[in-house]
Order: sequence, then structure tokens, then C-alpha cells
Amino acid sequence: MTSSITQGAWSPGSTPADLATLQSLDDQFTIDTYARYPMDAVRGAGTRLWDAAGHEYLDFLAGISVSNVGHCHPHVVQGVQEQAATLLHVSNLVHTEPALRLAERLATNSLGDGSKVFFCNSGAEAIEGVLKLARRAKSAGDFVVVKAGFHGRTFGALSATPQEAKQAPFAPLVPGFVVVEPTADAIDAAVTDRTAAVLIEPIRGESGVHVVPDEVLVAAREACDRHGAALIFDEIQTGLGRTGPLWRFESTPVVPDAMTTAKALGGGFPIGAFIAGPRLADQLQRGDHGSTFAGSPIIAAAAHATLDILMDPELHARTAVLGERLRDGVSRLPGVSEVRGAGLMVGFDLAAGGAPDLALRAIGEQRLLLNATGPETIRLLPPLVVTEAEIDDAVGRLAALLG
Ligand SMILES: Cc1ncc(COP(=O)(O)O)c(C=O)c1O
Repeated sequence: MTSSITQGAWSPGSTPADLATLQSLDDQFTIDTYARYPMDAVRGAGTRLWDAAGHEYLDFLAGISVSNVGHCHPHVVQGVQEQAATLLHVSNLVHTEPALRLAERLATNSLGDGSKVFFCNSGAEAIEGVLKLARRAKSAGDFVVVKAGFHGRTFGALSATPQEAKQAPFAPLVPGFVVVEPTADAIDAAVTDRTAAVLIEPIRGESGVHVVPDEVLVAAREACDRHGAALIFDEIQTGLGRTGPLWRFESTPVVPDAMTTAKALGGGFPIGAFIAGPRLADQLQRGDHGSTFAGSPIIAAAAHATLDILMDPELHARTAVLGERLRDGVSRLPGVSEVRGAGLMVGFDLAAGGAPDLALRAIGEQRLLLNATGPETIRLLPPLVVTEAEIDDAVGRLAALLG
């Protein structure tokens, strides 16, 4: 081993390395789990990203629905800078106001009176925690999950993610997961007195933006009520204004017993949370669960600044309108066979397939960042601060690729 103290050193003032250098570092030093695009990013502002060579990109992926407020939103930057100079971290063994106010804010703006919040650091951790919550409420109970759902990569979350390619290499998984089609009849038949919870994304994002019909959610609600099971919505991607209202469940006839959130909550900083409605709020006991970093003052400050922006009803109304504009524009593109989604969570299918190739060409030829969720499907998740003109611009760039 030959190395020096400066090998690998970096600071924000360093001259940015070029893409080839980064690709070589990636090959040599990171475990190869990501199929990264041939793109680097050094700076972001609003809906725009810039690479080291100075090229500007229009970002219609938003860090996979993390940067809902846009990149480096000045209010988030300011909140974080002020808190960074005051207190970064202290542990959950003492009281800190940023996190406790954040819990108050989330609890009073989600599942109703008596709701309570547990903080963690990512979406998968929020799923792990909420599964423990439901199990605590019904000892040894099963979890009903739907085919092609996605809840994360840790063992519990992966066990709730019935996708062969993701699960098979890691078998045996956590037992106790019952997998069903995402239909009212299938969920109704699967929920029994042994069920601890039904866990469902109200719109399945990672598998291609499939909106779960209201009748399915209502059937799940009724089945859970009949059998004393918890209905849990995974709002990690759908929440925080992405689909219009603050939470997707507000657009449905159903209120879940618990829900998860993460992604956009920190405005770019890592945070997750699960929220327990009144029925489940006091199930977990002292010592049942914990996390070192969760709810640290610096992350909570980022989340407060982010919520200042994302809780604005005008933003919600605007997101719904802009989403319609985006779906309408995309539906007119040649070769597009189906468009799905709500608000600014949009997926579309290409009749001839080739979605991964289109995503690559979008970056290389049009400097438009988006992603393919499968061979046929492209997903668009622009920052919610996107403008009408930028929506039209993105549709125009797609038209140039598909025309
Ligand atoms: C619906 C849903 N649940 C859970 C997760 C996992 O979140 P994380 O990657 O933060 O662990 C994701 C991530 O894409 C998601 O979309």
C-alpha cells in the first residue's frame, strides 16, 4: 500500500476534476452498484445543473425527487448556514428544538390529532421503522405488499420490494411478507387477522409511475379496519408536494394509519421519518428503536427551511397545473404510447422501447436530465419550482430526440 495524507483529499475550493478523472476514480475506488450517466455535476441552482466543463443541464430528475425546492434554494442554504455555525449534532439523549418543532410541524400537518413522528436518515430506514411499529402493534403479524412496489434496499425494505432482480441475489429475505397483485380483490383476500399491516405506495414511482386507483386504496383501508391491521402509505416519493397537495393521500378518499417520508424533506440533506397516526402513535416503547444521527439540529434546520417552501398552498396548486401541462406536452410526442402520473410526478411509455437509450441521449444531446425506470418507461420529476417555459423547453428537447 502506497498512499499519502493528500491522496484523495478534496475541498470545495479545489479545481473541479474532469469527467474522465471522476470515472476512473469511480472504477478504482467505489463499489460498482450504480450505472452512472456519463455526466458530472459541480454546481446547481433551481432547475439547473452545471458540469465541470461549464455545460448547463435542465434537471427533470431533481435528485430522484429530492430537490423539490430546486438546487441550492437560498432559503435552505441560509437556514443550514445559520444552524451550521450554532450546533451541528448532539445526540438524541438531549432535547433539541429544531427536531422537536419539526416533529410538531409534520404531526400537525399529516395524520391528524395525536399523530407522532420518528426521525431517521433515509427512506429505507423510514420503512424499517414503520414495519417495526406495525409489528409492535400486532405481534408476529404479516405484512401485505404489492407486486412491483419499491420500498428500499435494506433487508426489511427489500423484503417489502417484490422485484425478482433486486431480491433474488440476497435470499433468504426477512420472512412474513405476503405479496399480492395491486388490485382491490387481491388485497381484500390477503388481509386476515394475522396481518400487521398493508404497506403500499399510493403511486408506484420506481417501477414506472403507476397511480394506484382509489378503489384499491379504499379496499385496503376497509380490509385493514376489518382485521385490525395498519394501513401504511409509503409517501417517500409521492409526498412533500410532488403530486400537488403536501401528501398524496390527501387526493384519495383514504387516510392511512401511518406513513413514511424522506427524499425531499431535507431539501438535499439526508432525512427520513415515519409518522404514526393516533392509533399507532404510542405503540413503540423506549428502547424499541433509535438512530444516532436522526433529527440532528443541522438536518432539522434544513427540513424546516424546505417545509417553509413546500407547505405553500400556492405551490401545490401550481404543481397540479404544471403537471397537467407536462403530461399534455409529453402525450403529443411521437412514439409515446401512455402517460401517467399526478402533479409533477410523471411517467411515460415509448411504444418502441429504448427508454434507457433515450435517457442517455437526453443528457448527451439535449442536456436534459431524466431517468428510465425500465425498458419502455421514462420518469420525469422536475423541481417543483420549475416554470411553464421550462416545462415547454423540456418537452421541446424530448421532441428533438423522438422526432
Ligand atoms: C417509494 C419509495 N420508498 C422507499 C425508497 C427508499 O428510499 P432511500 O433510497 O432514501 O432509502 C424510495 C427511493 O427511491 C422510494 O421511491
